[in-house]
Amino acid sequence: MKSPESNIEEKRQAAEAAAALVEDGMTVGLGSGSTAELFVRALGQRMVAGLRVQGVASSSRTARVAAEVGLPLIELDRRLDLAVDGADAIERGTLNAIKGLGGALTREKLVALAADRFVLIGDRSKLVERLCDRQAELPVPVEVLQFGWKITARRLEALGRPVLRMQANEPFITDNGNVILDLYAAPLDRPNDLATTLHALPGVIDHGLFLQMAQCAFIATERLTVAR
Ligand code: A5P
Repeated sequence: MKSPESNIEEKRQAAEAAAALVEDGMTVGLGSGSTAELFVRALGQRMVAGLRVQGVASSSRTARVAAEVGLPLIELDRRLDLAVDGADAIERGTLNAIKGLGGALTREKLVALAADRFVLIGDRSKLVERLCDRQAELPVPVEVLQFGWKITARRLEALGRPVLRMQANEPFITDNGNVILDLYAAPLDRPNDLATTLHALPGVIDHGLFLQMAQCAFIATERLTVAR
């Protein structure tokens, strides 16, 4: 069993490996979550040594960390050279991922899709042989419009068990003003079919299946790649 400290160390190793990919003058998509924040801090370190870079933040929390390390931010209005983000599960052979336990999935996906290269980073606990291996414990987060969310939840019941995400006894509200329904849909045998179905549902803004998107992942010191 790994201690939380070793996970942080593995996250840092992955974050630093991804930060080494950043070249002078690049515009970089900044993911969300603890590993992505370590990436932003690693970029901050490289900026102290002279690297010039600008970023697009995928959440207000990441924007705060970028401001802390002096990384200039721009809005998402152009192609990005690279985007780097953490994940909740990463499938070894495909680099398909489940994201969104932090609730920033919609902006994270927009940022990742705007980038020429999308790189996932994480500790070893994130790596699975198949996405469905972690499905029993891990839902697919679905961002849903507040208006009529109970109707949307009923529609989601055809796909699994949707649970309204709560925080401090209140519904969790995303940076976009929406709620999250965590969809327990194990076993996740056909993630592409689920992604297509979710996109077609009225009220659904986006979901945490990041399929056929990443070209590279750093899991602690291990580097995985797929051709895209
Ligand atoms: C944020 O919405 C998520 O997608 C995170 O990227 C994911 O939960 C990974 O978080 P950690 O890096 O904190 O494990």
